[in-house]
Amino acid sequence: MDRRKILVTSALPYVNHGLHLGHMVEHIQTDVWVRFQRLRGHEVRFFCADDTHGTATMLRAQREGCAPEAILDAMREEHVEDLGRFGVVHDNYGSTHSPENEALVGEFWAALRAAGHVDQREVSQLYDPEAGIFLADRFVTGGCPKCGAEGQYGDNCEVCGATYEPSELIDPKSTITGAVPEVRSHDHLFVKLEPFHAFLDEWTQSDGHVPAETANWLKGTFLSDELRDWDVSRPAPYFGFEIPDAPGNYFYVWLDAPIGYIASTQQWCDRTGERLEDWWKDPATEIHHFIGKDIAYFHTLFWPAMLKTVGYNLPTAVHVHGFLTVNNEKMSKRKGTFVLASTYLDHLSPEYLRYYYASKLSSRVDDIDLSLDEFVQKVNSDLVGKVVNLASRTARFVKGQTLPEYPSELDEGLFAAAAEAGEEIAAAYEALDTGKAMRLIMALADRANEFVESKAPWALKKDASKQEELAQVCAVALNLFRQITLYLAPVVPRFAEESGKLLGLEGAGTWSDAASPVVGTTVGKFKHLMERVDPEKVEAMVEASREAAEASEAEAASAVGGGEVLDGEPLEAEITIDDFVKVDLRVAEIVEAKSVPKANKLLELTLSLGGNERRTVFAGIKKAYEPEQLVGRLTVMVANLAPRKMKFGVSEGMVLAAGPGDSEIFILSPDAGAKPGQRIR
Ligand code: MSP
Ligand code: ZN
Repeated sequence: MDRRKILVTSALPYVNHGLHLGHMVEHIQTDVWVRFQRLRGHEVRFFCADDTHGTATMLRAQREGCAPEAILDAMREEHVEDLGRFGVVHDNYGSTHSPENEALVGEFWAALRAAGHVDQREVSQLYDPEAGIFLADRFVTGGCPKCGAEGQYGDNCEVCGATYEPSELIDPKSTITGAVPEVRSHDHLFVKLEPFHAFLDEWTQSDGHVPAETANWLKGTFLSDELRDWDVSRPAPYFGFEIPDAPGNYFYVWLDAPIGYIASTQQWCDRTGERLEDWWKDPATEIHHFIGKDIAYFHTLFWPAMLKTVGYNLPTAVHVHGFLTVNNEKMSKRKGTFVLASTYLDHLSPEYLRYYYASKLSSRVDDIDLSLDEFVQKVNSDLVGKVVNLASRTARFVKGQTLPEYPSELDEGLFAAAAEAGEEIAAAYEALDTGKAMRLIMALADRANEFVESKAPWALKKDASKQEELAQVCAVALNLFRQITLYLAPVVPRFAEESGKLLGLEGAGTWSDAASPVVGTTVGKFKHLMERVDPEKVEAMVEASREAAEASEAEAASAVGGGEVLDGEPLEAEITIDDFVKVDLRVAEIVEAKSVPKANKLLELTLSLGGNERRTVFAGIKKAYEPEQLVGRLTVMVANLAPRKMKFGVSEGMVLAAGPGDSEIFILSPDAGAKPGQRIR
């Protein structure tokens, strides 16, 4: 087979968040495919980067009182570290905030201008007069103009599904300051997409460029109508690249993000002496993007249109995966199923998850579920019970011995059959049907185990006259084990490598090695290649995730009725008087206040409700108050809030305060004369 030249990318993670197990679906799927292609002998380069620009980064920098750039390096390091620990290693991991990217964005922009694809017109948008910025859809909430549900974002209603413009919201509020936004107009730049309509019709519907489900969705949703122009500029202030011929305006983050794929390649070229043209302009080079279904729109309409305009290669394929659920629900911070990659790694081995995801993924766009019970069960029964078992039941009998000429008369055709199965397994990997590949491999393991059962090497061991046969049975079992671990190598590379070492082999090997038996190497000492998954560690991971979420929730939300809620669930809009009287509001005296050293925003308050009744409350007001200012002061607390265990201790209530947060928080106080413990009504 010809040696293919393949460039592969995963979607660029937003710089603002740590990676979670949802992100890992994509990184693991991509990495498995990359490793598979390398094992097949192809030349593969794997690129990624952080996606850095946009309002969220700007606001975070403002909140933390630093330059946006100061956030980027630390987050990038964190991402690279998490990925590396999961075995996901790139040829280059860049950043969209790089000089390489800025230069390429300039090149794309000049090409779009020159081709006459750029338009300019006025856009009315909501503007936060306190923060001094235009508000993206996610930064405005209000009532749905269609069904009236409150607390909806500016783009669509989670209750009735209506889509609308943010300016149509009833009583809109800025989520940044709480201010009532004004409608203001500003000139924006647009890329016209309609001129690409015929091209996109053809490109998206042919040659497997996008999965069939995505192709149909595009056809039904966008391509059946005139394609709307794409708004690619944002007025200052915005964290991004300033538009060269429109000063005071910045490229919208989604314009420069995909160009980051090329910029990351450029950085690698500069380091290695490779030429960018060989990877992005040579028709013989394949380009494969791996993305989630939520961003298919950007990668299958805008991106091909931009690439075509500037004269870079179009993707060979955009591979689209579905979303991760945990125990059949959206990941939930409250339930501890919103698990950060780093939290997972604190408790469990990365190869368990790599195998589990591989066994669940197919080439379809379906969502995939991480069922925690099934996770434990599958890894234990497949990897440990079937694969490791083959070696653990045989290697010790031939420790230190040389593997003999392969005894093919003994193996009932098993080795040859597994060698032949290699092509079907490879085809499944190639098509991203790793679920099928794992099933085929486990079927081989089942047959190999049956062989071991039937030959019972442990019985041969006891019979002095059968030592030659014992060596031969073990040679068969270990060679079948070797084939299986080679086929599994893209998924569990460390395990495969350790398995090779057991048979006296160095390095990863290649796919075709599975066709020839290992002969003449020395079998090493069997050590545990993989431990069983301990369900208690899974529980500990969930518990740690719940605690981490609570700690950050308490920081973000405590003491402020600002509506900061977990998982984006809006607060209940309307309550009855019966609901209200359930809330036990009391006058409380702050008798002690101290800073929580490991938390940015928390103070630990001891509140007196009169007599000996004391409550400990963690309140997110550190940036607004010095602890000593508070001691002796009266305030208002929710006294019957269920206690919550947090990283720092148990919080037994909530102090009421107003304001947007950080240094602008104002705790409530009763008028003079009120006494600690008095009920508020
Ligand atoms: N920055 C953009 C991508 C720009 S690419 C030029 C972005 N970032 S993201 O961090 O939100 O998501 C990165 C990738 O992870 C996306 O492909 C997204 O679909 C995927 N996932 C994020 N959450 C996910 C799940 N819960 N499940 C599966 N994939 C998920 O989008
Ligand atoms: Zn609605």
